[in-house]
Amino acid sequence: MFFLCVIASNGFAAENAPSSTMALENSTCIQCHEKQNKALISDWRDSVHAVANPKVDCVSCHGALHKDVASNARHDETCINCHGGKKEPIVHSYSSSKHGTLMQLEKNSYDWNQPFELASYRSPGCGYCHMHQGNHNVSVTVRHDLMSDMETEKVQDNTRAVCQECHSPRYITHLFTNGEAMLEIARKKIREADRLIKQATGEFSEEELMPVRQQMMKMRQHLVNVHLGVGHQSPDYQWWHGQPALDGDLLRIKGAISELRRASFLAD
Ligand code: HEC
Ligand code: HEC
Ligand code: HEC
Ligand code: HEC
Ligand code: HEC
Repeated sequence: MFFLCVIASNGFAAENAPSSTMALENSTCIQCHEKQNKALISDWRDSVHAVANPKVDCVSCHGALHKDVASNARHDETCINCHGGKKEPIVHSYSSSKHGTLMQLEKNSYDWNQPFELASYRSPGCGYCHMHQGNHNVSVTVRHDLMSDMETEKVQDNTRAVCQECHSPRYITHLFTNGEAMLEIARKKIREADRLIKQATGEFSEEELMPVRQQMMKMRQHLVNVHLGVGHQSPDYQWWHGQPALDGDLLRIKGAISELRRASFLAD
């Protein structure tokens, strides 16, 4: 009765899988897999990946062939190649974290055919956190930013569920508190710069204010760096690419505006 056991597990037997040499399209994956797991498909449909243009679909992550189809998607490279490559802050903030460093050292010893939740991985990769327990909606798994439109408690619970598979609740509470404090300091600097620029807007032409506005754009990227530093637990991004960079931006904006005021005072 061996064959019965195989079928009985989920009614989705291996012999019903498509040939591993035939390239498939996204709609074909969905047609068949929707029968097995409706929630997986609807979670994907609710994610930013499904509404991106072009779509990030089944084939983008799993490949078009029904071969190594799960392990393909579990590898960080799948996410990294499309998320801007190694130098992009999203990726670099992870690779410069302890998790990223460990992953780099140990990835060849992990069994990538195992689901993440079976915890054969000592260090988490992109999918471990963002697609926790196979959740195909990358927008609802780990969240840190309390300014997001999800409820604070739910945000923290979802993230906790991931971190606490490997860390103690106390340690994670401590990190969340520090992370929020760090983000709030960063946002304060942005608010101060915004206020200074608003005041200067009536006094000077857009042309005169151009360098100030360009500095402000850099400043917003540095806020993103702090956000990523906190999310990906990268001290480099919290500090080196984050807070001191924001301090520098604020100083330059202040300096440029007082320079404009001095010049207009001398011209009067
Ligand atoms: C005709 C039905 C059918 C189609 C089409 C199909 N699959 Fe599957 N898929 C299956 C079956 C049956 C299984 C379970 C047996 C197995 O693991 O081979 C499966 C398993 C999987 C798994 C889990 C594998 C594992 O190791 O746990 C993934 C991931 C997957 N399919 C993705 C896809 C993607 C992506 C596509 C489109 C490129 C696709 N499937 C197209 C039937 C299908
Ligand atoms: C083929 C390209 C592609 C692949 C592969 C890909 N992504 Fe994305 N991802 C995108 C795009 C495009 C967006 C939307 C970007 C935006 O709006 O800034 C996105 C957004 C995200 C977001 C932000 C969610 C939100 O609500 O803001 C996360 C997290 C994410 N991806 C994680 C992953 C992970 C983890 C993987 C690998 C398992 C992955 N991505 C694979 C292209 C990709
Ligand atoms: C952003 C990348 C990404 C996209 C898009 C994506 N998947 Fe996945 N998928 C993954 C990852 C990563 C895993 C492994 C999750 C794990 O091990 O917990 C996975 C796991 C699976 C599994 C195995 C689930 C299980 O619990 O065994 C199936 C089946 C699957 N995907 C089908 C699909 C189908 C069908 C689509 C298209 C609607 C799709 N995936 C789109 C990354 C993706
Ligand atoms: C230890 C868990 C973990 C790992 C590993 C991880 N991330 Fe993240 N990621 C987070 C957290 C937490 C955030 C902050 C989310 C927030 O504030 O909304 C985040 C933020 C992001 C964002 C920005 C989402 C937004 O709302 O702006 C993207 C995109 C992203 N990660 C992609 C990746 C990619 C690609 C990888 C692998 C190179 C990766 N992550 C590895 C936990 C992780
Ligand atoms: C799959 C297991 C796993 C998951 C999930 C995980 N971590 Fe880790 N984490 C580790 C390991 C292993 C280390 C390295 C421990 C060491 O340095 O001894 C680590 C290190 C860290 C460090 C650095 C500590 C130091 O001393 O430098 C921080 C901070 C951290 N994790 C936070 C988190 C947060 C926040 C989450 C959830 C978003 C998370 N981790 C999810 C396994 C995990």
